[in-house]
Amino acid sequence: MKIAILGGTGQIGRGFALRWGQKHDVIVGSRGAEKAETLAAEYIKILKERDLPANITGTDNKTAAENADVIVLAIRYNQLESLMELINPVLDKQIVVSVVVPMEKNMCYIQPNSEHTTVPISSEEFNTDYFCFSRPESGSAAQDIADMLPENIELVAGFHSIPAKKLADLDLEPEFDVGVCGNSMRSKEVVFDLVRDIPNMRPLDIGPLETAPMLEALTPLIINVSARNKMRDTSIKFI
Ligand SMILES: NC(=O)c1ccc[n+]([C@@H]2O[C@H](COP(=O)([O-])OP(=O)(O)OC[C@H]3O[C@@H](n4cnc5c(N)ncnc54)[C@H](OP(=O)(O)O)[C@@H]3O)[C@@H](O)[C@H]2O)c1
Repeated sequence: MKIAILGGTGQIGRGFALRWGQKHDVIVGSRGAEKAETLAAEYIKILKERDLPANITGTDNKTAAENADVIVLAIRYNQLESLMELINPVLDKQIVVSVVVPMEKNMCYIQPNSEHTTVPISSEEFNTDYFCFSRPESGSAAQDIADMLPENIELVAGFHSIPAKKLADLDLEPEFDVGVCGNSMRSKEVVFDLVRDIPNMRPLDIGPLETAPMLEALTPLIINVSARNKMRDTSIKFI
């Protein structure tokens, strides 16, 4: 399968490329084709040093999206709009996967009478920074993306709680659960298999796209738990 990782030069994109590049054709996408080529070469080197297969190329985000079966959006929430505009014309029947978590540091929102109110609390009060889910009006980043996609394109959301460092560390095979949601079972099955391609990771069906807010909100919770309890790059496992 051809997997385009848009923003594949970043932290989480690196881990996906190193894991899936052993089994699939990975296309690292970037705003700059040259940067993508450089990172693709770096990922290939890491895999070759371990005598692992490495099927990875690099190009600009639009070309990567055009040539893929699965497109992973591995960029930050506030960067989505321009990327979606760029790739929409080349979307045909690719499956789009969102790993995007809208979150903010030291800034929580409450919603009395559906009015957004910002409640900043100084990090000094808590001795350390903390993160909050920054819930978009639509409910989730995934719903925002769905609203920007052509109607025939299926969206799946997942991998939000997988820490980039552990994903990219090929010495590790962490037993993490990966929550996956979306409205098409066919597309979710494709993503379940991508989860299974990462040793010891287990895909769990969370439900339709409506459940994306719960999945996305897990990430700031996990980061706060880690920071406050001297844990590193933690994730979740349902037992
Ligand atoms: N880091 C994690 O542990 C983790 C875990 C789960 C989910 N996520 C989610 O994955 C997404 C990416 O996170 P990350 O930590 O990998 O981010 P990152 O390293 O900061 O950035 C990823 C890539 O985004 C691209 N980018 C930057 N500005 C852009 C723009 N204006 N338009 C289009 N692309 C732009 C950059 O690629 P180029 O410069 O090459 O274009 C960059 O390498 C986020 O939504 C995050 O919530 C992250």
